[in-house]
Amino acid sequence: MLKLLALILALVPQLIPAPAEMQVRGGSFKVTPASSARIEYKLDPECGIPAEGYSLEVTRTRVRALASTEAGLFYARQTLNQLEENGQIPCVSIKDYPRFSWRGFHLDPCRHFLSVEETKKFIDIMASYKMNVMHWHLTDDQGWRIQIKKYPRLTEVGGTRTEFDGSVHQGYYTQEEIRDVVAYAAERHVTVLPEIEMPGHAIAAIRAYPGLSCTKETVSTFYTWGSPDIVMCPGSEYMFEFLEDVIREVIRLFPSEYVHIGGDECKKAKWEKCPACQARIRALGLKADEKGTAEEKLQSYAVRRMEGILAKYGRKLIGWDEILEGGLSPNATVMSWRGEAGGIAAALEGHDVIMTPSKEGMYLDHVQGDPKIEPVSIGNYTTLEKAYNYDPVPQELIDNGKDGHVIGLQCNNWSEYIYSDSHREYMLFPRAFAVAETAWTPKDRKDWESFRVRVDKACQDLDDRGVNYHIPLPEQPGGSCDHLVFTDKAVVEFTTTRPVAAMVYTVDGSEPTAKSERYQKPLEFTRTTTLKIASLTSYGKLSPVRTITVSKEEPWPALPEEAVQKGIRASRTDGRFVTAAQITGPAREVKVERLRDLTTLEPFDRNMPDTLQFYAAQAQACFKVKETGVYRFSSDCDQVWIDGKLLIDNGDQVKRFSREDAEAALQAGVHSVKVVYIYNVIGGWNSIRNKTDVQMTKSGTDKWRRIDIL
Ligand code: ACM
Ligand code: ZN
Repeated sequence: MLKLLALILALVPQLIPAPAEMQVRGGSFKVTPASSARIEYKLDPECGIPAEGYSLEVTRTRVRALASTEAGLFYARQTLNQLEENGQIPCVSIKDYPRFSWRGFHLDPCRHFLSVEETKKFIDIMASYKMNVMHWHLTDDQGWRIQIKKYPRLTEVGGTRTEFDGSVHQGYYTQEEIRDVVAYAAERHVTVLPEIEMPGHAIAAIRAYPGLSCTKETVSTFYTWGSPDIVMCPGSEYMFEFLEDVIREVIRLFPSEYVHIGGDECKKAKWEKCPACQARIRALGLKADEKGTAEEKLQSYAVRRMEGILAKYGRKLIGWDEILEGGLSPNATVMSWRGEAGGIAAALEGHDVIMTPSKEGMYLDHVQGDPKIEPVSIGNYTTLEKAYNYDPVPQELIDNGKDGHVIGLQCNNWSEYIYSDSHREYMLFPRAFAVAETAWTPKDRKDWESFRVRVDKACQDLDDRGVNYHIPLPEQPGGSCDHLVFTDKAVVEFTTTRPVAAMVYTVDGSEPTAKSERYQKPLEFTRTTTLKIASLTSYGKLSPVRTITVSKEEPWPALPEEAVQKGIRASRTDGRFVTAAQITGPAREVKVERLRDLTTLEPFDRNMPDTLQFYAAQAQACFKVKETGVYRFSSDCDQVWIDGKLLIDNGDQVKRFSREDAEAALQAGVHSVKVVYIYNVIGGWNSIRNKTDVQMTKSGTDKWRRIDIL
């Protein structure tokens, strides 16, 4: 039965997004240099096909595409490109049109810059899957990426940051480059939506022009993620003059009907203390009520003024759903990212909305498999299936007749943890294809089982283009771990987040290939082994290989009575260190009650002032194990030593999540633990935010708990 289904699916053209209506007939049209005369693209504004839609008739002798718009013909061409295989186009009859007019994808060059070439690559791919808006997030705390001629320091100062380790990250787009990208996108029927963030997420601008902030303080650099308290000052007229000047240059570059003004995650702490902001609040008579605090109303006032500025230049405002706080501007369109609630509230008030809820599957920076083995990410969990199954029209809006205000959906690709172009691609694909299908295909034509088969063809297309993408890794149910231990026998089970053709493995240290042993059932080990395992796709490509050590060990003996120590002995060394090997200098004793107190020897300051005192700290203690057995340890500290042996070494990895879990066999009784913690910032992650110290669980169970210090 499954084989039959697979055969039927193989015969159906592998289109993404699936067309609204399609009939497949027998036979095919042969593409030759001479046959191009028999391929007709006809534009007829009166043909009655919806904007962006098209019809396509492929017979053995002719190909006819018809549309009422150029965009429709462009999409007919994309469909034909996808249909063609080995010079043949199957005979089909297609009537196709999009479900949503807003089919967006978002790029964030602020946290990690990407070149014009790489940006065009995304536009090219997305357009071929019928996406039509690129939301370009051009300004943020960590970087200002658009040249503004009136304010050259925005890119001279705000376009460069020096990271914790002294490396420099920089880049911006000249106005000429922006015009080039916008034109390139327009040729592919993609509108570029610029985002200029206000009043929060603006440290890059404030670094360049300190007068924009409430305290007008100089901020020398900013190299961590999160939302700082330092934001623009809506108490001052300077902020609005600046933003109007910027907008005046922006709108000359972008023909987009809309401009995105951000508006998200603006901390209000500085406004509460700022004389100018408080004077503005008094002058406007803003008062806290059930709709929000006085400061939230001040934000609403600032957004309304932005709406006025944009209207003056004939443009409309889009903002993140925080622009609802304190009251929505009259004509704003809302991008709902903190779930759907903001979008629903705005649509009920009659505003257009674009759904891009983070935890519901539209944030393509979220991890797409087991975070223990996937590359470090911002977290959460969005598999391909979850991204595919998201539907942007909530029942509540249908029930209230407001579903028409959902003009579309968008996937966002924030780049805090995207350290390379190839990793950006890995995070976007193939999940962006899932979003493309939801954006275009009628809901009742969507089908996950069919999509997950069709997606393999789209992935092969990425291979042809030299673009990286995610293939599900073999994962251990209940939590993956690369350093396994057993005392007499280990049984190791694997699964994948979605079906793959097979998992293949070796146990002799060699790299697996498509021809290696196929995983059929849980693997048993009675000898120390290096297991290498990968997923194999239907088209013969392997996922990255996991290397797992499965070690036979005698349980480590418990400490003798005289070596048992109560409490924690800890010391601290001031300095900027990246790895444990670099720690040098005088150490002084510090008092801590719990291992996790190692992270609180200095206060957390989200604003990263130059005065921060970085340090390394070590702690030694004893802990008790009730039963002899194998235990798994996890820590986002830098190192964990058990009984004098280095078990976990996070090296110079980004310590966002523990990804070097390891097992040890321990005898019942007391054992020693040493922890090395470094307060530093690696890859933009500020380790003082880690609070988990050392966790342990009996291997094979999922009952993690803090290590019990004596
Ligand atoms: C957002 O993710 N802060 C819009
Ligand atoms: Zn202020």
